[in-house]
Amino acid sequence: NTGALWGGRFADGPSAELAALSRSTQFDWQLAPYDIAGSRAHARALQAAGYLTEDELERMTAGLDRLADAHATGALQPDDSDEDVHGALERLLIADLGPELGGKLRAGRSRNDQIATLGRMHMLDHGRRIGRLVIDLVDAISQQASEHPAAIMPGRTHLQHAQPVLLAHHLLAHAWPLVRDLERLRDWADRASVSPYGAGALAGSSLGLDPAAIARELGFARPADNSIDATAARDVVAEFAFVLAQIGIDVSRLAEEIILWNTKEFGFVRLHDAFSTGSSIMPQKKNPDIAELARGKSGRLVGNLTGLLTTLKGLPLAYNRDLQEDKEPVFDSVAQLEVLLPAFTGMVATLTFDTERMAELAPQGFSLATDVAEWLVRQGVPFRDAHEISGALVRYCEERGVELDEPGDDEYRAVSEHLTPEVRGVLTIEGSVASRAGVGGTAPDRVAEQLAALTRRVHDL
Ligand code: ARG
Repeated sequence: NTGALWGGRFADGPSAELAALSRSTQFDWQLAPYDIAGSRAHARALQAAGYLTEDELERMTAGLDRLADAHATGALQPDDSDEDVHGALERLLIADLGPELGGKLRAGRSRNDQIATLGRMHMLDHGRRIGRLVIDLVDAISQQASEHPAAIMPGRTHLQHAQPVLLAHHLLAHAWPLVRDLERLRDWADRASVSPYGAGALAGSSLGLDPAAIARELGFARPADNSIDATAARDVVAEFAFVLAQIGIDVSRLAEEIILWNTKEFGFVRLHDAFSTGSSIMPQKKNPDIAELARGKSGRLVGNLTGLLTTLKGLPLAYNRDLQEDKEPVFDSVAQLEVLLPAFTGMVATLTFDTERMAELAPQGFSLATDVAEWLVRQGVPFRDAHEISGALVRYCEERGVELDEPGDDEYRAVSEHLTPEVRGVLTIEGSVASRAGVGGTAPDRVAEQLAALTRRVHDL
């Protein structure tokens, strides 16, 4: 009894070189619980169609349960004769039940419909797990936002001071993409919840097995509409890899800001000791390694997606062995996010913001110049002129090394007759932020509403 699932038409066994190339147990063994679940459902379908007696089904199910228990304890292992998880499990089942009964299970299915099904089960499980980890991160960001309802920071475009914004507003701008990622995961799961079981090698089974019953039993929403598509398609894998890569990218954008904010020059945040690392030579160092790993791993996630798409390009229907290469990239993307997200969330949850420093820097770089222009518009000045006047004020102040609110009334008037002393009313960062009061704006009331809306959207998922 070896793990080989074929051999009848071969005079010679596989060469050692082929076996070494062909073997996939080193990575597909983690699919064993799904394969066993699939086998339970398949055995029931065989019984329903009259190929197993009640008693055989019971013994078969008991044997599969023993395999599942042994797998859970780590006692069950593939050996060198096993090509893949499917062959290994059949060998082990036959060792337990004997060839008479154990040999009946494979009727009407193929590794092609099996592997396509197991892959989907694995992704759906881990997709749910990663979704929960993303929710934890969104919660940590939201918590920081709610703890800083009034803190103001320099908002940037082109990495230059642009306009003051609420810290909470900026933080939530990192949360929304993650909320969309959660929605992407949900939409993807809908498409992924289709069972290829029953498609056989590519054409379906002649044994009258019911794919819908197996789909139901395995927790899928429905069976596949086309047996060729069921075994050959991997767009569902690529789409999953894309969503994981997008999560990595969204996390890496926040990571990059935390790295910048944590520099001496910015000084916006302090990292908690438990979520930062030291240097082996420089005793003073406290490094943002979690954020850097997030940035680095996002490249790896994109690589996994790119590799997958490249494997799929130009592949003819139906199953080709190339498709075995879909597993390691997606397993890797899953593993990276499952280890990264908890650490990243811990780092975000324990960030300390230096809100005084942020507020001090917020008006610098003439970031209130737009407020001056918009104040002029409210006084009836056309925006074209208002922009010119505000620009002239910036130039006046820059030449003298002062901020926009420092010139005297006469100096204002010398820049423009429209610049009356009342303009000082908008030359505070609080006034600036409060004035941006449209939906989606950075005014404190709007940001509070935004936080409530975001929380609702996550909890409605
Ligand atoms: N290990 C294979 C995979 O991952 C299982 C399917 C093999 N099918 C075949 N006809 N060789 O794709």
